[in-house]
Amino acid sequence: MISELQQLEKDALAELAGAATEEQILAVKTKYLGRKGLLTGVLRNIALVPDAEKPIFGKRCNEVKEVLNGKIDSALCLQSTRKKEDILLKEKIDVTLPGRGVFCGRIHPIIQVRREICSIFASFGFSVVEGPEVELDYYNFEALNIPQDHPARDMQDTFYIEEDVVLRTHTSPVQIRTMEKMKPPVRILSPGRVYRPDSDISHTPMFHQVEGLLVDRGVTLGDLKGILTAFLRKVFGEKTILRFRPSFFPFTEPSAEVDIRCVMCSGRGCRVCKQSGWLEILGSGMVDPAVFRNVGYDPEIYTGFAFGLGVERIAMLKYGISDIRLFFENDIRFVRQF
Ligand code: PHE
Repeated sequence: MISELQQLEKDALAELAGAATEEQILAVKTKYLGRKGLLTGVLRNIALVPDAEKPIFGKRCNEVKEVLNGKIDSALCLQSTRKKEDILLKEKIDVTLPGRGVFCGRIHPIIQVRREICSIFASFGFSVVEGPEVELDYYNFEALNIPQDHPARDMQDTFYIEEDVVLRTHTSPVQIRTMEKMKPPVRILSPGRVYRPDSDISHTPMFHQVEGLLVDRGVTLGDLKGILTAFLRKVFGEKTILRFRPSFFPFTEPSAEVDIRCVMCSGRGCRVCKQSGWLEILGSGMVDPAVFRNVGYDPEIYTGFAFGLGVERIAMLKYGISDIRLFFENDIRFVRQF
């Protein structure tokens, strides 16, 4: 019986050594240690062993059982470690590969410049108001002292919705809407989209303006010059040279266009400034008394100034962009640069 036990141990260990997978190891376990296993069978036959040998035989049986259990456990343990190593090896990733960039959205350059303009005027005490883009003829023209037969009312220069409804051609109607609603002092800024049927390298049918209006007692042309000079130097730099050139707008008197020394050629003359050395930046003037009368302000008591500037124009000069249409073509490579 003892030798039978010895043989059984040898066989079991040999089979275990050859078991490569978890199933094979478990099969060995069942074969020898299971309820109907070989070792279990031998133990059951202990009755056949002579009484004198029983203690030794029993002890050996338990030893063999312990040895097998131990070997099987460590084989299983080794097996599961191998399996994990295998998975790690197979699913290995190269963390040194450069990542794929996730692109963040950006603020459109026109909106960036519009915000900059608004925040400069906010620092001068102006507050922002908005008006409708589909506008009555009355606000876009009539109340601004633009008479019925004025060329600005021509079908070619204005998008008409109905006979007396237009897409606003400038932000100036917001001046009227604001003054109808509030009494002086008025100090507002009005950014927004405006529309004119033009399309070429420097015109798009839709573009952006910012309107400014300041009304109070004793406002002078000197105030207009001071505010606009301070503003343009904040946008284009403290050394910016500017000039106020006499002009005409039906809703301001006197009127002035403001030019800055060409930022491209410093005044020597180039394509951007059409060899003049100057760039037109904005229209401005002292509010015409006729406009004040249209909104019920007394021109004997109040004076004020207004100005209107093109946001695209400023953005183009700031960033050196030569074609205005680039802003609206939605080419992501263009807008991502700002
Ligand atoms: N509305 C004028 C334009 O679009 C600009 C302007 C605004 C001029 C206010 C004077 C005062 O050309």
